[in-house]
Amino acid sequence: MAQPDYIMIKALEDGVNVIGLTRGNDTKFHHTEKLDRGEVMIAQFTEHTSAMKIRGKSEIHSAHGIVYSDGKE
Ligand code: TRP
Repeated sequence: MAQPDYIMIKALEDGVNVIGLTRGNDTKFHHTEKLDRGEVMIAQFTEHTSAMKIRGKSEIHSAHGIVYSDGKE
């Protein structure tokens, strides 16, 4: 993949977690980034990151469109 797409996450509440999961045989958390309301993180899938898990209320923009994660428990 020459230039993987960027994913944009906008936090809609304080304390949204963007968690990067490793690529390879085991899938583990390798990085957690905490965003407060209004903060934006722009990230890519890389040779180290195969998946992202987002906890909390946020707006997620990707090539697939916009999806909202719901912060409600
Ligand atoms: N060191 C990580 C990597 O190169 C940084 C990273 C990229 C990341 N995309 C991410 C961390 C998404 C968390 C979520 O893969």
